[in-house]
Amino acid sequence: MFSKKTVRDIDVRGQRALVRVDFNVPLKDGRVADDTRIRAALPTIEYLVANGASVILCSHLGRPKGGPDPAFSLRPVADHLAGLLGKPVRFVAAMVGPEAEKRAGEMSYGDILLLENTRFEAGETKNDPDLAAQLARLGTIYVNDAFGSAHRAHASTEGVAHRLPAVAGFLMEKELVYLGRVMESPEHPFVAILGGAKISDKIGVVQSLLGRADTLLIGGGMANTFLAAQGAALGESLVETDVLETARALLQQAGGKIHLPTDAVIADAFSETAAHRIILVGNVPAGWRVLDIGPATTDAYRAALKGARLVVWNGPMGVFEFPPFAAGTRAIAQAVAECGGTTVVGGGDSAAAIAEAGLTAKITHVSTGGGATLELLEGKTLPGVAALQDR
Ligand code: 3PG
Ligand code: MG
Repeated sequence: MFSKKTVRDIDVRGQRALVRVDFNVPLKDGRVADDTRIRAALPTIEYLVANGASVILCSHLGRPKGGPDPAFSLRPVADHLAGLLGKPVRFVAAMVGPEAEKRAGEMSYGDILLLENTRFEAGETKNDPDLAAQLARLGTIYVNDAFGSAHRAHASTEGVAHRLPAVAGFLMEKELVYLGRVMESPEHPFVAILGGAKISDKIGVVQSLLGRADTLLIGGGMANTFLAAQGAALGESLVETDVLETARALLQQAGGKIHLPTDAVIADAFSETAAHRIILVGNVPAGWRVLDIGPATTDAYRAALKGARLVVWNGPMGVFEFPPFAAGTRAIAQAVAECGGTTVVGGGDSAAAIAEAGLTAKITHVSTGGGATLELLEGKTLPGVAALQDR
């Protein structure tokens, strides 16, 4: 159950709201290449403005190393956000300090300010108390709407929340309501689909879902490690040899709940122009590698999704950025959209596959989180959420 206060539970009128958003978006040639995360934060920003608060936004972008780096500046995001809101968004070329304090002090109700990348400050990822205190000086309340970063205990996501009245924004609330439902009161049949490169990132998620879901459909590179654990020959495929024992143990624990590919699309190089063909798993020749699930697997997974009352999907079925190896992921996207049950999709790649197929509107909830979604599905508490005030 979502038990945190939101912006609705406090009087925001006349407040200077310091709002942590997740504007960690891809940039291309100095422009925002995908604004999904920016659009997702608009309801909170618009609510605060409409209800008489001024808004100071902060976010990280990318993983800059060793101080300010123009390639990771949030300035292009300020321009993009101004376009979406149809009103000015002023930018401060610092996260904290005298200039930021001056500009914050000059704000009138309805004004919007975006601070520079929080990760330009060394103290951000260390959750440095001094940095959190400096940031807290800019606002009179703190709103966390950065669901995608809520698994990070950083100064702008966690430390600062102990220094101001701290509540959730609408995106944070929505994400936690949908993912909370998956964890606490799943409808059955509940089918989980996991893909992506590695098992090692998802061992906790598989364990958690084995206790909740009726069926786990596995694809992507992580399927290879399960197949290798059963003794399949996988050629040059990505296999995590250090977790084969763990994979074997999970399969035993699963008692048939885990479904693995029975056929695959293999390629003679990791390239979109590689020669490729379909084989039954277990027979990948030397020099070849698995890059997608095969058509028989796709049919079986489609059948498993039919009639599901709840579906959670995280991670692509293959290397879908290469067109010859995108069919599996596309077919699963379609099957999820058509299953008729509640559908929750998390992780940047799965969300991109859904968007590319034009299916976003057919999914109950497309999460803006990657790592944060996985940690929630694992049953972990997110530090950025824990630090907010209880209702
Ligand atoms: C993400 O994109 O996963 C979030 O913005 C968090 O970014 P991080 O993995 O660099 O902490
Ligand atoms: Mg990440």
